[in-house]
Amino acid sequence: MAKDYSKYFIKPSIRDARKRRKEDTPVLDFDDYFNIQGIGNGKTYRIETYGCQGNEADSEKIRGILEALDFTQSDDLEHADLILLNTCAVRENAENRVFGELGRLKQYKRNNPDLILGVCGCMPQEEQVVEKILKRYHYVDLVFGTHNIYKLPEYLETVLLSKERVIEVFSEEGSIVENMPKIRENTKKAWVNIMYGCDEFCTYCIVPYTRGKERSRLPEHILHEVQELIDQGYQEVTLLGQNVNSYGNDFTDRTYRFKDLLNDLHQMDIARVRFTTSHPKDFDEETVQILAKGGNLMPYIHLPVQSGSNEVLKRMNRKYTKEEYYQLVDHIYHYIPHASLTTDIIVGFPGETEEQFAETLELVEYCRFEGAFTFIYSKREGTPAASYEDDVPMAVKKERLARLNKIVNKGYLHGSKRFEGKTVKVLVDGTSKNNDSILAGYTENNKLVNFAGPTSLIGQIVDVTITESKTWFMLGEYHDGN
Ligand code: SAH
Ligand code: SF4
Ligand code: F3S
Repeated sequence: MAKDYSKYFIKPSIRDARKRRKEDTPVLDFDDYFNIQGIGNGKTYRIETYGCQGNEADSEKIRGILEALDFTQSDDLEHADLILLNTCAVRENAENRVFGELGRLKQYKRNNPDLILGVCGCMPQEEQVVEKILKRYHYVDLVFGTHNIYKLPEYLETVLLSKERVIEVFSEEGSIVENMPKIRENTKKAWVNIMYGCDEFCTYCIVPYTRGKERSRLPEHILHEVQELIDQGYQEVTLLGQNVNSYGNDFTDRTYRFKDLLNDLHQMDIARVRFTTSHPKDFDEETVQILAKGGNLMPYIHLPVQSGSNEVLKRMNRKYTKEEYYQLVDHIYHYIPHASLTTDIIVGFPGETEEQFAETLELVEYCRFEGAFTFIYSKREGTPAASYEDDVPMAVKKERLARLNKIVNKGYLHGSKRFEGKTVKVLVDGTSKNNDSILAGYTENNKLVNFAGPTSLIGQIVDVTITESKTWFMLGEYHDGN
């Protein structure tokens, strides 16, 4: 009997993606879905990853699946048999880059009609993106979203064997899939998902729609993954979630929360524990006190504020006031005086006045941020803010961004300067981007350091004395102890 390929045509719906069901999150085992062998034999693949660490972690899973199917990674995009774009939908320019790339890849498809071209990640979770691909990018063979990576073997089998196009994007999903194979990019630093999705619904943000309901991985699964990483010689883990401070709030049968996870990881034999992203509204004093224990809990916190104006924060649905944010920052510097803080800020949110923007500048000065990702507001179809009047002219948005960046860069430099003359611990990543004979790595405070030393130090944590600080990196000297 002919296979029914029409089942592979499921489009997303923003309306459905907004829904949140109360049921407990089902935990699936990837092994139950993996029963296809060898279809990648003799074939090469290439994944291009856009967006946040969540996407980078997903790409490592996709690579794991592809290599389990016997595909091999290719350095040569032009001759790859499979190209996947793992995309980001957070701002319009991120999406434009992907459409630009799809246009460029068309020629490869022309030269090699057997090339399989796929789009996955956050963009396909948007209705209008799938419509656009259907209408204008008919040479795309495979479209799937963030909830169904585990079905990739089945999709590839269909595309390869039947030459049918597969489009399958789930909107209302709330599962967790354990035991996905992973090919990690780095052998010393690893991403560890602790939760998926987001229930915050900040009014400007598309992520709750593209990533679905907030769901926490069970602590035993997380701790088991970290133990495996330790056994493999990993030195650093970064815990991933859109709001790590609400970890565990969805558990109905246990009281285990982010604090407990930090306490458990603090006892483990991994040199460095980082996490991202923190949401100020759920970051309490007790969590700060736990971080102040130090040890493997790194003194670096990324704490997006978005705006320094209470009116704007309210319209963004951030659920904290600037006073509460100030208090949290005070607690952090009180308990962890040497901490480094970074943030995210959006300028030109609909209705943002000059006075409100000035409050953001004031907040940035006060908080002594040592770095910030700053963005011009980008309207996202389907989000509440898309219906707000976008009344700040682009020229004003750009001018505000430039003023903000000036202050941010001053903070960056100031944050690095305070380490001049000090000896810090650096986890050596590899050689410097611009100079093969120079090593590069990150300090506990997450500052990039370049220094001369033997390549045998790569992967180790070593003492480096900072000799000079620039805005974006520091220079140091390594003494080998003799
Ligand atoms: N969960 C994280 C952020 C994820 S998105 C948090 O809440 O902190 C990363 C950053 O992109 C956000 O912090 C925000 O500053 C920015 N961002 C999200 N949506 C945006 C939009 N529509 N326009 C401009 N910037 C946006
Ligand atoms: Fe977006 Fe807000 Fe969720 Fe962060 S917390 S992902 S900004 S909705
Ligand atoms: Fe982008 Fe999706 Fe991450 S929209 S920022 S890749 S969650």
